[in-house]
Amino acid sequence: MQIAKMIQPGMTEVEISLELEFSLRKMGATDRSFDYIVASGLRSSLPHGVATEKKLEKNESLTLDYGGKYKGYCSDLTRTVFLGQPDSKQREIYNIVLEAQQAGIEALKPGITGQEADAVARQVMTKAGYGEYFGHGLGHALGIEVHETPRLNTRETQILQPGMVITVEPGIYIPGWGGVRIEDVILVNDNGVEVLTQAPKQFIIID
Ligand code: GLY
Ligand code: MN
Ligand code: MN
Repeated sequence: MQIAKMIQPGMTEVEISLELEFSLRKMGATDRSFDYIVASGLRSSLPHGVATEKKLEKNESLTLDYGGKYKGYCSDLTRTVFLGQPDSKQREIYNIVLEAQQAGIEALKPGITGQEADAVARQVMTKAGYGEYFGHGLGHALGIEVHETPRLNTRETQILQPGMVITVEPGIYIPGWGGVRIEDVILVNDNGVEVLTQAPKQFIIID
C-alpha cells in the first residue's frame, strides 16, 4: 500500500489526512469524498473518528478511511494498519473482520437485498462473539454522493442490480481497546461482482 510508506510514529492524524488527500489529488482527484477518518490507538474504536492532533505511537493500530472525487464520482476505502507487530487480540479481531468482509463480498450478486447481504457478514461477527461490536451497516452504494441507496444494513429491502457500485465495510469497535474496519468498493455485474479497490488486506505492518 503506497500510503503506508509515509506513515510513521510521531506524525499527527491530521498530517496523515493531508498526505492521503495530497496523494489522491496528485493522481487526479478534484476533491476529497468526505472528511477522512484517521483514528489511531484507542480512537480506532470510534467508527467515525475524523483526524485530530493526536500523534501516532508505536504499536498502535491506525484506521484510515478516505477517498477522492474523480470525474464527478466518489471513491471510498478503509484499511486498518499496525505500527509494529499486531498482538494476538489485534490479529484475532482483524481476521474476523476480514472473514466477515470476504463473506459479504461473496454474497453480493444481482437480486440479493441489502438486508440479506448484511446478514451474511453479520453472522460471521456474531458466531465469533463480536456481533454487538459491529454497530453499523455493512455498506452503501457509492456514486456522485458518497452514501447512496441501496444500503447494506439490517433494514434495506432494495435489491442489488448490475451496474451498482457498493462498499463492503464491516468493523469491530471495542471501547477502551480499539477497532478494525476494512472497506472495499465492489461493482455488481451481470453474473456476480468485481472488486474495484486494489489495496492489500493481509496485515499491513509499518515498522
Ligand atoms: N466514511 C464514509 C464511509 O465509509 O462510509
Ligand atoms: Mn469509507
Ligand atoms: Mn463507506
